[in-house]
Amino acid sequence: MNKIVKFSIDGVECLATRGQFVVDAAKENGIYIPTLCNYPGVKPKGGCRICTVKINGKLMTACTSPVSEGMQIENNANEINEIRKAIVELLFVEGNHFCPACEKSGNCELQALAYRFHVMAPRFPFSFPIRKVDASHPKIIKEQNRCVLCKRCIRAIKDYKGRSIFAYSKRGNRVEVGVDSKLGKELTDELAQKAMDICPVGSILVKEKGFYQPIGTRKYDKNPIGSDIENLVVSKP
Ligand code: FES
Repeated sequence: MNKIVKFSIDGVECLATRGQFVVDAAKENGIYIPTLCNYPGVKPKGGCRICTVKINGKLMTACTSPVSEGMQIENNANEINEIRKAIVELLFVEGNHFCPACEKSGNCELQALAYRFHVMAPRFPFSFPIRKVDASHPKIIKEQNRCVLCKRCIRAIKDYKGRSIFAYSKRGNRVEVGVDSKLGKELTDELAQKAMDICPVGSILVKEKGFYQPIGTRKYDKNPIGSDIENLVVSKP
């Protein structure tokens, strides 16, 4: 069976390997589909729904949907971008995000998505939840006010036996992600840094590392999120 499939995104013909997730196939074709919970090399979860696209007329998550021959995908359409914008706004009002005071400002994917979707003031009421800053671990601070529950840290930060060092605690709308009480000692300096880097917001911070990158040199200071993909010179497989 032919491994290469032909499909289209917003009417642009694309080629990819059969079974590749739509978000990765789009990237290879120089098309950006916004993501938040997804991370390269980490098993997709389909949790945040920012990557929502229309596949053959149905709303689906691009990070968990494999491409197939003849698929027609709508990505950069007003209706879809409005859904994404609403999700970003909901994430902002659900937590306590104060960008000017955040160590991850300029490197934060949620903030960068808000700029991309022109979020000025959220249309939804702020919930201002009471959440703690957990500084009990010797290497990291877990800032629960900023956590978007994307599970990237749970899925990617593992000890030498493959066990997740981060875990959920509590239930319902009080659910939090933190260092697992038994495996916290397995968080090496290297893994702590990886956790901080993989966190899309400023919820995992290596202690004594805040604000080390000057304004103007941070990841999204000059180039908006997605510009690295959209500017790709496309080489078809
Ligand atoms: S990036 Fe696809 S659901 Fe979060």
